[in-house]
Amino acid sequence: MKQISKLSLTALLAFGCTAATWAQGLKDAYKDYFLIGVAVNQRNVSNAQQQALIKSEFNSITAENDMKPEPTEPREGQFNWYNADRIADFARQNGIKLRGHCLMWHSQIGSWMLGDNPTKEVFYQRMKNHIQAIVSRYKDVIYCWDVVNEAISDDPNATDPYRQSPMYKLCGDEFIAKAFEYAREADPNALLFYNDYSTVDPHKRERIYNMVKKMKAAGVPIDGIGMQGHYNIYFPTEAGLDSAITRFKEVVNHIHITELDIRTNDEMGGQLRFSREGVNVTDSVKQHLADQYARVFRVFRKHKDVIDCVTFWNLGDRDSWLGAANYPLPFDTEYKPKMAYEYIKDMKAPAWQLPPRPARKPRPQRAQGPQAHQRPPFNPDMAFPEDPNVKEDFQPSAMNQPGQQYPQVNSQGIVRFRVEIPEAQSVTVSLGLGGQGGTQLHRTYDNSWVGQTAGPMDEGFHYYHLTVDGGTLNDPGANNYFGSCRWESGIEIPAKDQDFYAMKNVPHGNVQQVLFWSESTQQVRRAFVYTPPTYGKNKKERFPVLYLQHGWGEDETAWSNQGRANLIMDNLIAEGKTKPFIIVMTYGMTNDVKFGTIGQFTAREFETVLVDELVPYVDQHFQTIAKKESRAMAGLSMGGVETKLITLRRPEVFGYYGLLSGGQYAPEDIKSKDQVRLIFQSCGSKERPDGIRQSTEALKAAGHNAVGYVSEGTAHEFLTWRRSLKEMAPLLFK
Ligand code: XIL
Repeated sequence: MKQISKLSLTALLAFGCTAATWAQGLKDAYKDYFLIGVAVNQRNVSNAQQQALIKSEFNSITAENDMKPEPTEPREGQFNWYNADRIADFARQNGIKLRGHCLMWHSQIGSWMLGDNPTKEVFYQRMKNHIQAIVSRYKDVIYCWDVVNEAISDDPNATDPYRQSPMYKLCGDEFIAKAFEYAREADPNALLFYNDYSTVDPHKRERIYNMVKKMKAAGVPIDGIGMQGHYNIYFPTEAGLDSAITRFKEVVNHIHITELDIRTNDEMGGQLRFSREGVNVTDSVKQHLADQYARVFRVFRKHKDVIDCVTFWNLGDRDSWLGAANYPLPFDTEYKPKMAYEYIKDMKAPAWQLPPRPARKPRPQRAQGPQAHQRPPFNPDMAFPEDPNVKEDFQPSAMNQPGQQYPQVNSQGIVRFRVEIPEAQSVTVSLGLGGQGGTQLHRTYDNSWVGQTAGPMDEGFHYYHLTVDGGTLNDPGANNYFGSCRWESGIEIPAKDQDFYAMKNVPHGNVQQVLFWSESTQQVRRAFVYTPPTYGKNKKERFPVLYLQHGWGEDETAWSNQGRANLIMDNLIAEGKTKPFIIVMTYGMTNDVKFGTIGQFTAREFETVLVDELVPYVDQHFQTIAKKESRAMAGLSMGGVETKLITLRRPEVFGYYGLLSGGQYAPEDIKSKDQVRLIFQSCGSKERPDGIRQSTEALKAAGHNAVGYVSEGTAHEFLTWRRSLKEMAPLLFK
């Protein structure tokens, strides 16, 4: 062993490695200079590979968004520490320093702070409460705070040096002083920074300098200046950067480079093309990037007496707020180090010197006006922590409204939700596991609400809704299906056997709406009628009919929408597995019945509508075989209860009975052997399958043609009933 290490040491020395090559990561290479930091999102601190990269390269982190005013206090006095805590814990657990970002800013601040035109005093109280809450919560782990962000004007011609933000308009520059005072009160040990961009721009540099100087003279506790460092490959020049740091050194003892990234294309203003794909970068661009990093780090090193931390704004190009197309960071979209990384770590000189006056006129670093803080599209990496047990192959649910990205389902059946309800205080989704009352969503960095089911959902279709601040609402991302006596949101977890109810290129039948007069209820009533693909081709051909009922809370739309009854039939017919027949689906008058009183339900009114009004209507208007041997009745759940009541009271009407999660017939219910040709009974394996098995055996023993079916892995839900229809259809009308 000794021999080997000696050899490798000699080999490395022979290849002329510098001291820095020996270092493990950037933080080690720069241990005699300053801390090396990185801005992090939720994925960065939960993905094992990314955690490892942070730990090996960096010794300081900043929350990219999760500690900003709005994400942490979306409404007055209501704090949301969910994401911030994860980042703080990561820092604590790994002994990594944590920069706080940021306490007061005109952007990403809750509208409640200034939206109702508060007096200065009220605003100060709100600001104080916010600062007190967040600074004291993370006192043990945050060593410095960006107290005020971006309060100076960019406009070179402005006479007023300050940004005309709502807080400035209300309070003048006093709000800046107050923010620093409140922060110092909350944590006397934290270093307090004023943080801004375009700090190399001479106009802005001088304004910042003057403000800090004036405030410090007045006793405002400002310890340092944060130079954001959103640069590009031509700007700043070393001379410009050097002048800015030199100037700031006159007024502060601490300078942090707080948000370093270097854009490589001309998407420099607010018009950032946001792309999360990798990008083909030419060798020349790679060299430009490495050179510009080499230049700025050369200046930073020169000022190590005052610079104590240099933070990259994002871990890899994949995370960059500028989009991967800008190729802005030392690590690429795969977190592989670039040439720029080597240049920084090895403290190389740039291969190409900038001409003394750059050919291109430096443009402002960021656009002014409304676009200056335009938010990039929602990025799930920043919101959902990584979990090794959760596969990252989420797709929008097949039941989403057009173009809607959420809810999403992965191949394990785990569901992710996201809704934009900025003013909400609590959002839960009724879908979830283990009787925990659904899935609790939490507010994330962009003020939307996100969450994920605690584990895989059962395959198939599920109804659900949101509870927002105690009220029931649908998920705007999902389509609606009639269930629970209302149109509820629906989601589909792809099932292994989904092919049997898929929409395929086979001959399709027709589902038509039929409006018929009902004398007994004095109403026009509605039914949907499925006719098979061959129906009507031959005017003489007549078809058997299945009367198919929905369950409690549903209506006549359920079987063809969420039940996919027509597609199941089309597919079975195409495969030659079932005889073509008509299906009639009407409202079973179930929903005025109170849920607890279903036991006393007689289905008398519905019996009249069905048997005395609808059956004759259908026999008159469709090519049916109008006799008992060609007529079946089946129903799911409460529709099964109706089926049992009606078939037994009117044995002359139907020749085949089906109860789908809807109870059982006892042998003594059936008065004569030729009363019924088939009794089909089914349920999901998560219901009470033993009841189905036992009753089917008893019916068989009594000499009846009975078939029992149990749907594997499903409960009292539509996949059970879709499968039941698929099993039952081939057995009918034989
Ligand atoms: C940016 C984040 O990176 C984005 O994800 C977010 O959408 C907007 O804010 N100056 C700052 C940072 O002080 O907080 C900003 O971060 C970038 C500009």
